[in-house]
Amino acid sequence: MFQIRTLNNISARGLERLPRDQYEVASEINRPDAVLVRSANMHEMEIPETVKAIGRAGAGVNNIPVDTMSQRGVPVFNAPGANANAVKELVIAAMLMGARNLTQAWEYTRNLQESGESLTKAVEDGKKQFAGFELPGRTLGVVGLGAIGRAIADAALALGMRVIGYDPGITVEGAWQLSAEVERAPNVDALFAKSEFVTFHVPLVDATRHILNAERVKTLPKGAVVLNFARHGIVDDHAVMEALDSGHLGAYLCDFPSETNRHHPKVVALPHLGASTGEAEDNSAMMVADEVRDYLEDGNVRNS
Ligand code: MLT
Repeated sequence: MFQIRTLNNISARGLERLPRDQYEVASEINRPDAVLVRSANMHEMEIPETVKAIGRAGAGVNNIPVDTMSQRGVPVFNAPGANANAVKELVIAAMLMGARNLTQAWEYTRNLQESGESLTKAVEDGKKQFAGFELPGRTLGVVGLGAIGRAIADAALALGMRVIGYDPGITVEGAWQLSAEVERAPNVDALFAKSEFVTFHVPLVDATRHILNAERVKTLPKGAVVLNFARHGIVDDHAVMEALDSGHLGAYLCDFPSETNRHHPKVVALPHLGASTGEAEDNSAMMVADEVRDYLEDGNVRNS
């Protein structure tokens, strides 16, 4: 009987992949064969010597001490692509939200409704104040062309946008799956120079930390909209806030509320919602449960 410790929010459909006659699955197991985790920070946890595999129900693995685990010979499995559609939908929603000033306009009407002022005049004023722009013909820069970046590129093309992408580490398979309509930038600076919207879909590692920094923010076209739905730290929040204040950037839409980006009229910060749909949670949990099960039973390694 294999024993699996679940750390948080692993969907029931994922756990169904571990048959109960062969697997005991619970959060209280002390000497597990494997751990399934979503976002809990495992860096500060003691990971029992019995653990032979870790499954992360998501794409990123930076909540897991991967180096320490690999020194112990413990593979860390993840679920690349399992939440790509969920992240894509949120990023496209955020772009539309930014282009049409939806959050600001909604706040405006809500305040007016509460104040009891004339709504007829409010509608007239609001129509001018929150006039937006349309997406066709605008250029979206996609940094990172894995499953999520490619899905966003396809959706943006379908909306009539131009798409420019950059990813020095794109796999051969990924390159085949990338739409031929996506212009490939030779480097990230070439991408920034053209991007009226720029979105990041890369892991947070030394090479990507503050990939959008104070110098590079200035190279984005005036009024550009920055989207970070990958990891906090890929974008230098201080640099972005300064560029919002100076009027160089149009908006900052992200999945990471922080002290730096709080209370700014041009910032919309969501509580890391990218992968938070029932479908994405099921897909991710099923994928890692399969990977961990196949490894424990047969030594097969996928997505490690
Ligand atoms: C991911 O890395 O795929 C996301 O952070 C998943 C999540 O929100 O748990």
